Amino acid sequence: MSLLVPKSMPLLIPKPMSLLVPKAIGTFILAAVLVTGPAFGQQTGTASLPSLKSAYRNDFLIGAALNMRQIDEKDPAATALIAQQFNALTPENSMKAAIIHPGWDRYNFDDADRIVQFAEKYHLKVNAHNLIWHSQLPPFVSHIQDADSLRHFFTDHITTIAARYDGKVYSWDVVNEALNEDGTLRKSIYQQRLGDDYIVEAFRLAQKAAPHTLLYYNDYNIEHGKKREGAIALIKKIQAAGVRIDGVGIQGHWSAAHIPLEDIENSIREFSALGVKVMFTELDLSVLPSPWNRNTADVGQQAAYADKMNPYVNGLPDSVSAQLAKGYEDLFRLFMKYKEKISRVTFWGVDDGQSWLNGFPIRGRTNYPLLFDRQLKPKAAFYKVIAVAGETGTR
Ligand code: G3I
Repeated sequence: MSLLVPKSMPLLIPKPMSLLVPKAIGTFILAAVLVTGPAFGQQTGTASLPSLKSAYRNDFLIGAALNMRQIDEKDPAATALIAQQFNALTPENSMKAAIIHPGWDRYNFDDADRIVQFAEKYHLKVNAHNLIWHSQLPPFVSHIQDADSLRHFFTDHITTIAARYDGKVYSWDVVNEALNEDGTLRKSIYQQRLGDDYIVEAFRLAQKAAPHTLLYYNDYNIEHGKKREGAIALIKKIQAAGVRIDGVGIQGHWSAAHIPLEDIENSIREFSALGVKVMFTELDLSVLPSPWNRNTADVGQQAAYADKMNPYVNGLPDSVSAQLAKGYEDLFRLFMKYKEKISRVTFWGVDDGQSWLNGFPIRGRTNYPLLFDRQLKPKAAFYKVIAVAGETGTR
């Protein structure tokens, strides 16, 4: 427990408590924090916050996706919060192919090296993201026509990067988002030029180049029916080839109003039955309406539509804040039920201001999907997540 005791705190401790051992006092203070909630955090600042990584230290790693502004420590308050709350990081963009391998014979390891240094300095495990993905590829790759050239790029890319960071990063998302919603393989440039076996091949190359690094498959919506079946078939295929796969990452980009708890529970059970660890790798809960079922193209209605899709520009109503907090509470209760099967839960960002959900699927919205607000203050959802860790009575 990394709680710092505010000077006034002993006054709150009833007399018999002062006879107890320090650990028990820490637990009592945590209880006081949880009872008083956000007001306590706001009065005392970040230094007195309970810590996610400490609360879940016996259960699973707690990670965050970080951008280079955070890695370069541009904001000391953000650095302090990251060091206090997280013991794992995933580079949000900086180890993707477009950045780390911008030219056929050209690698740029500057950002990735700084990520590793930051992680060492603050004792975070790096989940490197990612080796093979159809998106954020360097532009030259889309011009590669023949299979041999693409295979050359593929082999060199995996081998060079995985070998360089073996022993420096904890794990790799070896293949990212290779499945369609119906569980079939996405027709990516890799699938089209190299055939369906490119995924097994990617893991085989990563295993050889990075024998000390854990190797994962990572995707969204794989908690659902056909796509879950596709992911299970994929993992079995890799295993049947005698190739190592250590875990599967369920991204967890959900809506706070519709969290598929039953699917998530079934997927934890079914994936872990294959002998791989399960992770929640990109967790965030959108509170904004989805545009997917829009049924008007009337230009006259555009302004009203824009307002309707971005309703919380001036702040989040208490009812929605409570819904978000409840969503996180339900999720972490489920994660705790299966803590033996789960090795990491990573949030896709630290604070609401950083989230990709402010720009996707509609640009320029104000979303609130994470545990810390735009001023880096803990939200009600943060306290719910901390409270769930204390419920088992084992700490
Ligand atoms: O770096 C350029 C900058 O130079 C330029 O001025 C700016 C103009 O738009 O773009 C910047 O690049 C953006 C990059 O994020 C860094 O901010 C890209 O346009 C933008 O497309 C990119 O978005 C990232 C997205 O992946 C790309 O697909 C998001 O930040 C990142 O959160 C998101 O992460 C993905 C995971 O990797 C895989 N799972 C889904 C998840 C969310 O989409």
